[in-house]
Amino acid sequence: MTGFKTIIEPFRIKSVEPIRFTTPAQRAAALEEAGYNPFLLHARDVLIDLLTDSGTGAMSKHQWAGMMQGDESYAGAESYYRFEAAVRDITGLRCVIPTHQGRAAERILFGTILQRGDIVPNNTHFDTTRANIEAAGAIALDLPVAEGRQPQLRVPFKGNLDLAALERCLTDNAGRIPLVMMTVTNNSGGGQPVSMENLRGAHDLCRRHGVPLFLDCCRFAENAWFIKTREPGWAEATPLEVARAMFACADGATMSAKKDGMSNIGGFLALNDERWAERMKNNLILTEGFPTYGGLAGYDLEALAIGFYEALEEDYLRYRIRSIEYLGDKLTAAGVPIVQPTGGHAVYLDAKAMLPHVPPAEFPAWALGCVLYVEGGVRGVEIGSVMFGRQPDGSEKPAAMELVRLAFPRRVYTQSHVDYLGEVILQVHALRHRIRGVRMTHRPEVLRHFTARFAPVQGKLLAEPGA
Ligand code: F0G
Repeated sequence: MTGFKTIIEPFRIKSVEPIRFTTPAQRAAALEEAGYNPFLLHARDVLIDLLTDSGTGAMSKHQWAGMMQGDESYAGAESYYRFEAAVRDITGLRCVIPTHQGRAAERILFGTILQRGDIVPNNTHFDTTRANIEAAGAIALDLPVAEGRQPQLRVPFKGNLDLAALERCLTDNAGRIPLVMMTVTNNSGGGQPVSMENLRGAHDLCRRHGVPLFLDCCRFAENAWFIKTREPGWAEATPLEVARAMFACADGATMSAKKDGMSNIGGFLALNDERWAERMKNNLILTEGFPTYGGLAGYDLEALAIGFYEALEEDYLRYRIRSIEYLGDKLTAAGVPIVQPTGGHAVYLDAKAMLPHVPPAEFPAWALGCVLYVEGGVRGVEIGSVMFGRQPDGSEKPAAMELVRLAFPRRVYTQSHVDYLGEVILQVHALRHRIRGVRMTHRPEVLRHFTARFAPVQGKLLAEPGA
């Protein structure tokens, strides 16, 4: 901290990556070519890419230097032991299994322990978590607190799990719940944090029912920052101390280290139960690799061992969370509906509130995402009825919220990029009455948002002025 009000980026830039400017006409053509699915665009056609904060961050000079120490031995590499030591130090979990990313950890965890008909409660499952549970024939159950589904409500821990609902669920389904999960921060629920009180409450309930609690801990450092700054009693603790207290509630964790591992690839599965770990390592060998590399290069493990600690640095977290809030404040002041308060890694536009004239069957958040791209070259991601509307039996049900997530890559964009974003979103907000919906012309069955294709219901995304 400098004693001045302005919170600056806590780094200077050593290597730059040019971005390419395009016109709205060029972008409209690119989007049409991509079947109105931003996932299918060429990244070179995107000006500011907020599709995800996953694997898109900039590494530090320490990480790049660390990569030169990478030990590429097939078995027993030094890099693995450095990685294992970092994960153990932060999580306190004994068995550390590296994976190439988060969903590999999920597949191995669920593929090893779930039986058909089992139930896995969570505050809110992320799409890959849900898909991996359903692929194992089990049920992914979301139990967020009611506040979590009211985008405009400003309370500090909207990522919390509904403990009363969890207690009922554990009582009513004894024997069918092999584990409970909690996602920190709650990504699909607006990047909202989970409080220490809620984590401890879930831990007590799980212990009483003899069910292990696992954290989906992709953004554990951001969650730790919110506990430190929002929850009474934690202001004096360092983010590392808060993180350790969070993990003390858990019997295991899955991690996409592409987020708070500050790396472009990587993940892990960590747990205390050695018998489960043994079976999971055997499962890992089938598709990921030997348990001391798990599908990663030795140099990736080095970058991660350093990155986990960089994600916990106070100057970094202060700047990170403030960048998101800075955009949120601009939008809120201009009356743009967003999920309040701003969460850890993204600003979530509330398309249901912005486009009440577009019904869920015409995917308002998807349409809004398309317009943001054409108008300003900004790419976000829909978290709404395209991502979550298809039910396991093939029927359609509107998602609880229709959001466009604008996720910030770590240490990549500067304040002027954020100012530009604010301008683009305000312009799109001014056009909101003209925005029309889309229909899905190609409907894949699993994780359809990645590959579905669309067409504007009225032939164009924007109706003529006054129409
Ligand atoms: N859990 C959560 C909460 C996530 O946000 C993600 C990924 C995963 C699990 C899966 O990890 O991608 O490494 O396999 N989220 C990214 C996103 C893709 O854009 O939010 P992965």
